[in-house]
Amino acid sequence: MTIPEFQRQKRDKKKLTVVTAYDALFTRIVEQAGIEAILVGDSLGVVVQGQANTLSVTMEEMLYHTKLVAGAVQRALVIGDMPFMSYQASQEDAIRNAGRFLQAGAQAVKLEGGAAVVDRVAAITGIGIPVMGHLGMTPQSVHRYGGYKVQGKESDQARLLLSDAKALEAAGAFAIVLEAIPAELAKTLTEQLTIPTIGIGAGPYCDGQVLVLYDLLGLFDDFVPKFVKPYAHLKTDALQALRRYKEEVEQGKFPTDSESYH
Ligand code: KIV
Repeated sequence: MTIPEFQRQKRDKKKLTVVTAYDALFTRIVEQAGIEAILVGDSLGVVVQGQANTLSVTMEEMLYHTKLVAGAVQRALVIGDMPFMSYQASQEDAIRNAGRFLQAGAQAVKLEGGAAVVDRVAAITGIGIPVMGHLGMTPQSVHRYGGYKVQGKESDQARLLLSDAKALEAAGAFAIVLEAIPAELAKTLTEQLTIPTIGIGAGPYCDGQVLVLYDLLGLFDDFVPKFVKPYAHLKTDALQALRRYKEEVEQGKFPTDSESYH
């Protein structure tokens, strides 16, 4: 999957699917399902590292997981998520760190924000690195919002989101993630932009959808936002398996002869 192919799906009205992955095992499974793009999301701070938010995730940690995903991927587009403070302080930081993601095997990077980061997006795309934007409930700004809250419900906020989206497109972003905004606003943005919109909690009218893999699989249930649909219940399955294993070892039922060497 190349960037032009990814973008063509909007023109062809073929919905795009994106999920997060952080390791080789799940990358291979995601690919077998035919998912178009894998986001190595800084959500790993929450679902892998057990932190309350994504703010403490470092470039080194992101690069490590990007290498695991890129090493296993065959066809899907790999997008590296630029962590907090890897692009905010200066244009130079933004370019250098985006470049490190490509050296780790990603084909594109994602960063959060609108007008405030437009010059970063232009600078990174200017040196040939594709950038995905991210608007709405941007988790790196969680403290400014006072929690994970739906954005763009007021008309002035909605207007700002529209101008941010257009500015990102003009700066060269190849797609934009829209997180936790009203479905009607996401529909307007999707119609007004020529680049694909990828929704998460942004309703059905986006050009594609993204979910955190462990939410989708029902593995992570510490906090399940309204927009998550668990398509499996792997935490329940894992618990059942582990409890059964413990019981069978304790009762002398495992291992049996067929799991033993002679
Ligand atoms: O970090 C992440 O996983 C993300 C997606 C939820 C869009 O940014």
